[in-house]
Amino acid sequence: MKKVIFLILICSIVSVGQQTYNIIPKPTKITPQSGLFTLTDKAKILIPQGNNEINAIAELLSERVMVATGFQLNIETYDPNKSGQLSTGVAFSLDKNSKIPEEGYTINVSKSAISITASTTKGLFYGYQTLLQILPTSIYSSSTTPNTKWTIPCGIINDAPRYAYRGLMLDVGRHFYTTDYIKKFIDIMAMHKFNQFHWHLTEDQGWRIEIKKYPQLTAIGSKRKQTMEGHYSEQRYDGTPYGGYYTQEEIKEVIRYAQSKYINVIPEIEMPGHALAALAAYPELGCKGSGYEVTGTWGVHDDVFCPYDKTFEFLENVLTEVIDLFPSKYIHIGGDECPKTTWKESKFCQDLMKKEGLKDEHELQSYFIKRIDKFITSKGRKMIGWDEILEGGISPNATIMSWRGIEGGVAAAKQNHDAIMTPTSHCYLDYYQSNPASEPLAIGGYLPLEKVYSYEPMPKELSAEQAKRILGVQGNIWTEYIKTPEKLEYMAFPRATAIAEIGWSQPEQKNFADFSSRLKVQFERMQNMGINFAKSYYDISASSSLNAKSQVAVKLKTTDNQALIRYTIDGTEPTAKSMAYNPNQGVILTKDAIIRSAAFNEKGEKLGKVLDKYFFINKSTGKTYKMANEPLKYTGGEKYGLTNGVRGEEKNMATWVGLEGKDLDVTLDLGQIMEVSRVMMAFLRASNSWILYPRWVEIKTSVDGKNFETAQKIDIDNAIRPENSAN
Ligand code: ACM
Repeated sequence: MKKVIFLILICSIVSVGQQTYNIIPKPTKITPQSGLFTLTDKAKILIPQGNNEINAIAELLSERVMVATGFQLNIETYDPNKSGQLSTGVAFSLDKNSKIPEEGYTINVSKSAISITASTTKGLFYGYQTLLQILPTSIYSSSTTPNTKWTIPCGIINDAPRYAYRGLMLDVGRHFYTTDYIKKFIDIMAMHKFNQFHWHLTEDQGWRIEIKKYPQLTAIGSKRKQTMEGHYSEQRYDGTPYGGYYTQEEIKEVIRYAQSKYINVIPEIEMPGHALAALAAYPELGCKGSGYEVTGTWGVHDDVFCPYDKTFEFLENVLTEVIDLFPSKYIHIGGDECPKTTWKESKFCQDLMKKEGLKDEHELQSYFIKRIDKFITSKGRKMIGWDEILEGGISPNATIMSWRGIEGGVAAAKQNHDAIMTPTSHCYLDYYQSNPASEPLAIGGYLPLEKVYSYEPMPKELSAEQAKRILGVQGNIWTEYIKTPEKLEYMAFPRATAIAEIGWSQPEQKNFADFSSRLKVQFERMQNMGINFAKSYYDISASSSLNAKSQVAVKLKTTDNQALIRYTIDGTEPTAKSMAYNPNQGVILTKDAIIRSAAFNEKGEKLGKVLDKYFFINKSTGKTYKMANEPLKYTGGEKYGLTNGVRGEEKNMATWVGLEGKDLDVTLDLGQIMEVSRVMMAFLRASNSWILYPRWVEIKTSVDGKNFETAQKIDIDNAIRPENSAN
C-alpha cells in the first residue's frame, strides 16, 4: 500500500505546472527527481574557458531566453572541476574521457542548477536542444512573455542517438527555396536532432548551384519556360517562367549556418539521369548533341549524360568545385531513374560497351558510376548513390540510399557496403498524409503519420555484423507539388518529426500513443516557431460494418487516441456541442445520411478537418453477395465493399472494387423476395490508370437463386461512351 502512495507522489511532483518532460525525439532514459528548478533573471550560464564552440551554444541559449523572457543571462567561464560555482543557472561541461557516446549528453536538473555534460560539443548542442524542450514551449517564441516565472521539474536525462545518420532530403530542383528559408529549415531540423541535410541541387527541371567553370549551368540550366500544374495525366502548364539558383557565396553561408547547428550538408549532383538542365546548358554532353530544354514536366526523361570522356571531364570539374565548397565526407551523385534509351541508340555507347566488355546498359551505368566513385574517392570523400547504382555491379566505395524498398539496403549491407534507409513505403514525405479528397494536391501515395512512425529501419534479414552497415534513416521531400515554404512545412511536419524519433530513439522507446501525446507539445513549439505543420493526423476516417441486426454501423476513427470525435447527421457543421461519437456502438444508419465529423480536444477546439461522408442506405445495403471472379486485392477495402452504403469516390481508390481481364459478375442475395423498382451502380473511368467503364451491364432477377431472368441490359459502349474515345 505504501508503495502505491509513494508512486503517486512522484508523479504529482513531476507534473507540477504542466511541466512533464515532453521531449521529441524521446531520450534514452529519464529519471525524475523531486523538486523544481526556477528560472530567474539571476541565472547565469557557465561555460569552460577557451572553447568557442561551447560559447556559441551558450549564446544561442542566452539569446533564446532573452527573446522569450526578457531575462539577460550572463555567460561566464568557470572551472567544471570545482564545485559550488553556480548559485542558479545552467552549466555546460565537456568531459572528453566520459563514457557518454559521441552525440550523447547528460542533463541534471537540480533545484538550484541545470548541468549539461557531454564528451563532444555536438553532444552539448543536443543537450541544449533538450533543455529547450524541458522549458515551457514559449522558449521557441519570437515574442517575450511578460512576468515569466518558469519552473522545471528536477530529473536526470541520459541520452544518445540510435543511428549516426539522421537526415532529411530537400529537392530544390523542382522548386527553389531561398537561402533564408533553407536556414529556417535547418533550424527545424536542429530542434529534431537531425544531423544530415541532403540538398538535391540538380534536376531535369533546374540546375541550382553556381559552378564557376561552367556559367551556362545557371545562366541557362536554372530557368524553365513553364511548370506543370496538376497531375501528369492532365498535361496542364502554368505558362510562367521559373528559375533560381544559389551562388557559391550563398552555398557557403548555408554550410556555415548548418555547421553552427551541427548539421552536415550533403550536396547531390545528379548523374547520369535527371540531367536535362545540364544538357540544355552544354548539349555536347548528351548522346544526341542538341535539342535539349530545361523541362517543366515531371517524371523521368530519356535524355541523360552520354559517357564521353568530355562528360567525365565536365563532371569531375563540377565535382571539384562542389568538393571545395562542401566539407561533407559524403558526396551524393544520384544514379536513380536513368533510362537507357539514348545509350541503346548511340553508336558511341555501343562501341564503348564492346571495348570495355560491358554486357548491357546496366553495366554501362555501373561503369559510369565507378569512374565517378574513383574520382570522389581520390579526393578523400565518399560517394552516396540511390539504390539503382547496385545494378550492373556496385562500385567499391559506394554507400547506398535505399529508396525503392529496403532491398537495396539489404543487398548493400550483405556486400559489406554502408546503407541509408529511405524507402518510399515510409519515408516519402511528398505522399498524401490523409484522405486525398481533403488534402492539398500531392504526387500520390498514402503515407499517414502512424505509418511513418511504425518504420523500423533495421532489416530483419541482416546478421549483427551486417546490421552495422545500416547507418540510419532519412525522410525525402521531393517538390514537384510543393511550391512554397508553407506547403513544404505542411508536407514535412509532423511526419519528419516521426522520422527524427525513428533515427534517434531506441526501438524499445517507440510507442505511438506516447509519441502522439508528446507531439501535442511539439505542435505548440512548432506553432511558436511559425511552422505551418499539418494537423491531418487528427482527420477522421470512416468505415462501415454490419451490426448483429444487419444495420450499417459507421465507425469513425482519428489517429490521435486522446481526441474526442463529434458528429452531426443533419448536415450542420460539427461543433464542440455536437453528438459525441460512441466507439462501442458506431453511428447506426437506417436511411441515407451525411455524417459530418471532426476531432476535438478537451477544450472544445476543433483539431483536424471536417469529414463529410455520404451513406446511401437502400435495399442492398449490408446484404451479402458472391462474385464469380476475385477482385484485385488492392480494391474494395472491405469485404462487402459493394453494399456498404459508400459510393465510390473519384479520388479514393479504396472505395472501389476492381477487376483485371475478367467480368464483374455479382450475385446479390436480398434475403427475401421483394419488389425492386430501381437499380443504381457507379463506375469509375480513369483511362490514364487503365481503369475503364464496362462495355455493358445486365441485371437479372431470381426468386429461387437458381433460375435468373434478364430484367434489363444496357449497352454502355453505345449509351455513354464518347465518340472517338479510345476506351
Ligand atoms: C527517387 O525517388 N527517384 C530517388
